[in-house]
Amino acid sequence: MLRERVNPVPKQAIALTPELYNELTADIYVNTAKVSFAQVAPIPEGASIHDNGCGNGSATAALMDIIAEKPPKFICIKATDMAENAIKIYNKRIVDDKWPAESFHMDSNSLSFPDNTFTHSIANALVFVLPDDGLGTLKEMHRTLKPGGIAIANSWAVIPQMDAIEAATTTTRPPGTPLPLLKRERWSHPDMLRGVMQKAGFEDVKVTQTEMWITTCEIHRYATMLWSFVLGTSSVACSIEEEENWDRAIGIIEEELMNTEGAEVVEGRRLKLRFVVNVGVGMKSPM
Ligand SMILES: C[S@@+](CC[C@H](N)C(=O)[O-])C[C@H]1O[C@@H](n2cnc3c(N)ncnc32)[C@H](O)[C@@H]1O
Repeated sequence: MLRERVNPVPKQAIALTPELYNELTADIYVNTAKVSFAQVAPIPEGASIHDNGCGNGSATAALMDIIAEKPPKFICIKATDMAENAIKIYNKRIVDDKWPAESFHMDSNSLSFPDNTFTHSIANALVFVLPDDGLGTLKEMHRTLKPGGIAIANSWAVIPQMDAIEAATTTTRPPGTPLPLLKRERWSHPDMLRGVMQKAGFEDVKVTQTEMWITTCEIHRYATMLWSFVLGTSSVACSIEEEENWDRAIGIIEEELMNTEGAEVVEGRRLKLRFVVNVGVGMKSPM
């Protein structure tokens, strides 16, 4: 059947802007980094930390929050990302939040840091977006860590929005529309992260599953943002059908989100959602 295109998404959709993405992701990345740092010993004095694929700086922000009460002396953070816009935002936060950090526009697959540079290296919400399952990046993290240095990488075992997106897609979009986030399902099992970290050369790799919560904005707005993002990034063009089915899709998303395991409606009709994070920690051989 020929589908009448609506360009580029239904008229009800919110425009995909960096602000929308930030509001949608809320504290997902910061909280993921917090539960990840919690799996390693406290950051010692003199640590040199690489925030790899730093984006807007969530891992650095999480670290600064964790150490705020008693900051170790002489730590330095080097942050890298290949998106220039991310580096611009990160640089502003260095100034505004007085981070002991520098940032660099750099591909995580070919870092220009010398061998044996860092005591810690974190890839927060990074490996699963990379085309080679993050192997090249993890190898570079291994090369640039000092002997005995610690690598932290993570993936999500439970993404609470997944079922809601799947239900809205299968109910309101044409049959066979691919589900977004599908690739991430491969990452839900801890063995995926463990395997790639071991392959990159890390020793004593431990993957821990840990719960994490985020709080959304008001649920109707959250469902609207989520569906706008899903349709706006979909590989299947939208048609008049998605426009007509808009309210139905939003209703399905709201209901499914409220029914996910651990979900709780809190003040202001906001939702507390439960994630499960796989946190991988590995060491570069001390010799
Ligand atoms: C899901 S975001 C996570 C960002 C950040 N780590 C955080 O916790 O907010 C993934 C980030 O990886 C960056 N990225 C993707 N591929 C990269 C590569 N090959 N080298 C460096 N950065 C990369 C993207 O630009 C983006 O900022």
